[in-house]
Amino acid sequence: MSAVRAAHVIGWGSYAPSDILTNADLERMVDTSDEWIVSRTGIRERRVAAAHETTASMASVAALRAIHTAGIEPDDIDLILLATLTPDYWMPSTAALVKEAIGNTRAAAMDVAAACSGFVYAYATAHAYIMSGLARNVLVIGAELLTRFLDYTDRNTCILFGDGAGAIVLSAADSPGGGLGIEMTTEPQGAYMIWLPAGGAKSPPSAETIARGEHYIRMEGRETYRFATRTLATTALESVRKAGLEPSDIDLIIPHQANIRIVEAVAKGLDMPMDKMYVNLDRYGNTSAASVPIALAEAVNEGRVKVGDRIVIVAFGAGFTSGAVTIQWTADPARGPRGHAAVDPAAVHVRLPVDWDSVDPIPPALAELMARPGSIDVPLDDVVPGDPAPVHESVRS
Ligand code: ACO
Repeated sequence: MSAVRAAHVIGWGSYAPSDILTNADLERMVDTSDEWIVSRTGIRERRVAAAHETTASMASVAALRAIHTAGIEPDDIDLILLATLTPDYWMPSTAALVKEAIGNTRAAAMDVAAACSGFVYAYATAHAYIMSGLARNVLVIGAELLTRFLDYTDRNTCILFGDGAGAIVLSAADSPGGGLGIEMTTEPQGAYMIWLPAGGAKSPPSAETIARGEHYIRMEGRETYRFATRTLATTALESVRKAGLEPSDIDLIIPHQANIRIVEAVAKGLDMPMDKMYVNLDRYGNTSAASVPIALAEAVNEGRVKVGDRIVIVAFGAGFTSGAVTIQWTADPARGPRGHAAVDPAAVHVRLPVDWDSVDPIPPALAELMARPGSIDVPLDDVVPGDPAPVHESVRS
């Protein structure tokens, strides 16, 4: 075997659930407006996983699409890294469930916890495994099912987040390209700016923690915003410089899709035009660790990335964490749409436990909206039980 000189992205894929929750739907749940959400965040709609879907199932679809795009077999993968803050269970790892669902028999599999920076952290870990010779083909996944951890009475958080998954295959190569510069930071003074208080060892789940709503994501929006605008540009710049490049050498930035104002601040900080920033947050909202790999897969499949392009993936998240990788793209973008089409989500199954079933996983407020669809002009209070359900355009099941 020739010496490993680089780790190239050879496959990419994504999955988004089909149910759509629009800003108009949220107007029916909390005191907010489409105008406020669009002007403050840029988000217009987000995806919601159906009751039968889980983080592992979405991750498995994205992973198989990435494997098909790469043109390899599931058993060619020797390490699976899955970034998430919404695992199916505390244990086993969601990565282990994905390993079985995609039909891999030989990989080591583990989860990576770095919140919205998780995919970038997992990418960096995969790169290190490959460059050290410990692995040849690494499946790197970001997958989240955030809508089950949101308080649909808290307008500060429930408008921001959505569900989905994205994946890449990173592979050893002896030709130049792939990851050129990596930067990661963690600033624990921001530890409680975005957090989920209960359920861990400090505060195990109990009737009291649930009564206090401590099983939902909490966030200090302004402080998080300040951190993001300060750190994203500097983290991206550091990774570009480590690659021996300048921002003017970069063809496309793929930032964490949290807020359009944050993306604009990054563009300004790097002195780059907005047309070099990839944006799809209007359609997905913030999907945390899934946001960068979904955006990467869509950017490539839409023809925004060509062979030889230099791109930067950059994210920030709870912790506070941030991370960026400057990548030289080497794969044929035309493979992506074929790999995507090759995998039917209905044919992908995650094994369930014997003699156990979860309670209905959809939060009640969301379940009510999705089960009893009405015209978006009709407030929920006006819907009399037993009335024929009007056809609803935006929340499809
Ligand atoms: N609809 C209407 N009004 C609202 C809403 C809403 N959904 N949410 C908040 N408001 C109100 C507030 O109550 C406040 O009212 P007040 O002035 O009477 O107190 C007013 O709008 C302004 O609130 P701000 O918090 O100052 O609004 P801001 O312009 O900062 O936008 C936002 C809020 C969108 C949350 C922004 O701060 C942000 O994007 N922060 C970063 C969040 C983020 O990216 N989090 C993900 C981190 S990644 C991870 O690891 C999970």
